[in-house]
Amino acid sequence: MMVSGGVEKESTSVGRSRICINTAWGFHRGDPHGASAAGGSCAARDYDDAHWRQLDLPHDWAAEQSFDIRLPGETGKLPWEGVGWYRRTLRLDAADRGKHVHLEIDGAMSHATVWVNGHRAGGWPYGYTSFEVDLTPHLVFGEDNVLAIRLENPPESSRWYPGGGLYRNLWLRKTHPVAVVYNGVNIVADNIAKRFASLSVAIDVGNHSANSVTVRALVHVSPKGATTGSDRYLGESAQPVEIRPGSVARLVVEGVLEQPRRWDIDTPFLYEASIRIVRESEVLDSRRERFGLRTIHFDAVSGFWLNGRRLRLQGVCMHHDLGPLGAAINRRAMERQLQLLREMGCNAIRCSHNPPAPEWLDLCDEMGFLVIDELVDCWREPKKPNGYQTLFDCWAEKDLRAMVRRDRNHPCVILWSTGNEIPEQITPVGVELSARLGAVVREEDSTRGVTSGMNHVESAFNGFERTLHVFGWNYKPRHYSEFIAKNPALPLLGSETASCISSRGEYVFPVSEDQAAGKDSFQVSSYDLYAPHWATTPDVEFEHQDRNPSVAGEFVWTGFDYLGEPTPYNDDASTLLNIADPGEREKLRQELVSLGKLQMPARSSYFGIFDLCGFRKDRFYLYQARWRPELPMAHLLPHWNWPDRVGRTTPVHLYTSGDEAELFLNGRSLGRKKRARFEYRLRWDDVTYEPGELRAVAYKSGRIWAEASRETTGKPVALRATADRVRIASDGSDLAFVTVDVVDSLGRPVPMANVRLNFDLRGEGEIVAVDNGDPTRLEPFRSTACKTFNGLALVILRFLRQGRGSLVLGVRAGALSPANVTINS
Ligand code: GAL
Repeated sequence: MMVSGGVEKESTSVGRSRICINTAWGFHRGDPHGASAAGGSCAARDYDDAHWRQLDLPHDWAAEQSFDIRLPGETGKLPWEGVGWYRRTLRLDAADRGKHVHLEIDGAMSHATVWVNGHRAGGWPYGYTSFEVDLTPHLVFGEDNVLAIRLENPPESSRWYPGGGLYRNLWLRKTHPVAVVYNGVNIVADNIAKRFASLSVAIDVGNHSANSVTVRALVHVSPKGATTGSDRYLGESAQPVEIRPGSVARLVVEGVLEQPRRWDIDTPFLYEASIRIVRESEVLDSRRERFGLRTIHFDAVSGFWLNGRRLRLQGVCMHHDLGPLGAAINRRAMERQLQLLREMGCNAIRCSHNPPAPEWLDLCDEMGFLVIDELVDCWREPKKPNGYQTLFDCWAEKDLRAMVRRDRNHPCVILWSTGNEIPEQITPVGVELSARLGAVVREEDSTRGVTSGMNHVESAFNGFERTLHVFGWNYKPRHYSEFIAKNPALPLLGSETASCISSRGEYVFPVSEDQAAGKDSFQVSSYDLYAPHWATTPDVEFEHQDRNPSVAGEFVWTGFDYLGEPTPYNDDASTLLNIADPGEREKLRQELVSLGKLQMPARSSYFGIFDLCGFRKDRFYLYQARWRPELPMAHLLPHWNWPDRVGRTTPVHLYTSGDEAELFLNGRSLGRKKRARFEYRLRWDDVTYEPGELRAVAYKSGRIWAEASRETTGKPVALRATADRVRIASDGSDLAFVTVDVVDSLGRPVPMANVRLNFDLRGEGEIVAVDNGDPTRLEPFRSTACKTFNGLALVILRFLRQGRGSLVLGVRAGALSPANVTINS
């Protein structure tokens, strides 16, 4: 078992219950003898699965395995391809007879087929879509039933690490046969004024009974999390609606909410609608749906507006994996990522290139992030041999409706994206398909616009742009002004920007625009000056955003490093092409040949502002300086431990929210510099290295604003272990993230220390994963040992479910003083 999501929010209300069924699953990798995509032996109720592995969900069958250097780096060098089976017993009480029972799968990677008691009951191919399966016709009440689920990841079906397995939560929903359908509620605020907001709640009710029923809907509203009794009556459907057997009818409740409070990024206030479906005086179904009140607006001249206030989108793109935890979702791990992004000043996220876990959107609602919810990475034209093009014609509309219906009540969602770098964007077919998908979105949600991430210049001028409400451009800052001149009425944003590459704590000399790569290390220098040929540095994007203030903002590729796409060290033929400069490209090729390393070791990306562990790279401070201009901050790079550089030129860069700074080396001024217009860092490129203290004093409007310093440290003498939280829940899901660093005799972190650590854990818990953020680390995440990479390593811990007392993690490394950290439940 890699990561269990453990307890999720279960709910029971009159007429319905929804329980999480993540525990007690049997798992088998591959098709057992006699099993196949058509089912066979292990779909059957009486199949003997006693020898299968027992585990809890969410589960990612690949991240728990070893890396295999022979696998493509593009998808993370983990064995996610192939088949996996899950089986579980489901006890249904005799008292449940007559109820309608659905299985809800928040996401299954991928091509899921579900059997119940040997009967094929449903499934869904796209691994990122949430779906339901009606179990009712095949269940036996008062007895044990058996669920069997087969998943299959076709080879070469993804451009990044998708994970494999039941990697999100599973639920069992029991309702009256007349009930609100799956994702069947749509809450729209037509008008939000100071004193009142008019709400319209559309509710789709299905009738699975044998007779027509006539029902009404009643809605109450309360602030989320408010105590019972604070529900305020909103209204009821205008007249009773008759629903014939086997059909679905829409009931609409309109009403006015007084003294409405708005959802905003700093005050993410949420409401809950309590919905009841009533026949005469009998409540057949009741459920709660969360929503928020805010206005959003994109304008071609003035960018994005939230609640009547202009807001620059300071966004990042994120893949769905959680680094060392793989793709298995975990609420705390997602929350930690969002907290780190918020610290940087990030206010928006594009979930590239697929719909996220529902809990992730809940967190964005609760923490005040704006989201672009994206469907897919391709339509009919392939990017990989077995990619989404194999599904597009049959499934695109279903996947799109499923995404919009599931996510439309989240205030965080501000745009629907129908795709990323769709090859058809330069063809007439693309224009037609885009218009069609846009129309589907409008049928499900009339309140938000449609966008798409475009990578061709032509798509802004060939008619494709007219199928979108907001044009998303990937890596085209130098064309922003042309776009604005030619499309004066179409809002624009940078849907993917920068794609700057770096390894945390690595610096390569001499510093020049084309000296990205480490000599023999498969690392990339952290001066933040390097990007593949299609991309730019952050500074170039900043400049063009500033020159074109009508651009609504940007979504940096990426917030965190992710598994896969280790550009420039992908191990396919395109690798060397990622380096634009022909000389540099050839040099890299020869280096590889001479090292005998035609197989690249890299497993994870270099694009992140944070590394795979969530450790800040230098770039964090470049964005923080821009995105939080009111925060006094300054950050110097590189570190100042360069014994072999004494007397050699060692450029120093400063990221600060100030506008001017003076640099001192061992007390001597190396000059005071002012940031010019369109300059985003201060550079002292001719510093001659000597050990000691490097110090910068930053100014803003002539006044001292912030300081930063770097000292040459002594040798490593001790380890230090620091937990992000020392008290966590013992629910089998909550996590403690322990950072281990290596310090000198004065307690200063030693920047280049790469020492082997051993961990031991005492108490009723476990080490879930370890890593150090090195994109070339090929040791398993599940381990009790890890080297530090440039001074840092991460250990992720949790309690076993109902584990008591405390966990004590001991960290040891040879002669260094060991460290301990205690986590309480
Ligand atoms: C973009 C693509 C992303 C990622 C990125 C790396 O073109 O949309 O998915 O591959 O390049 O720079």
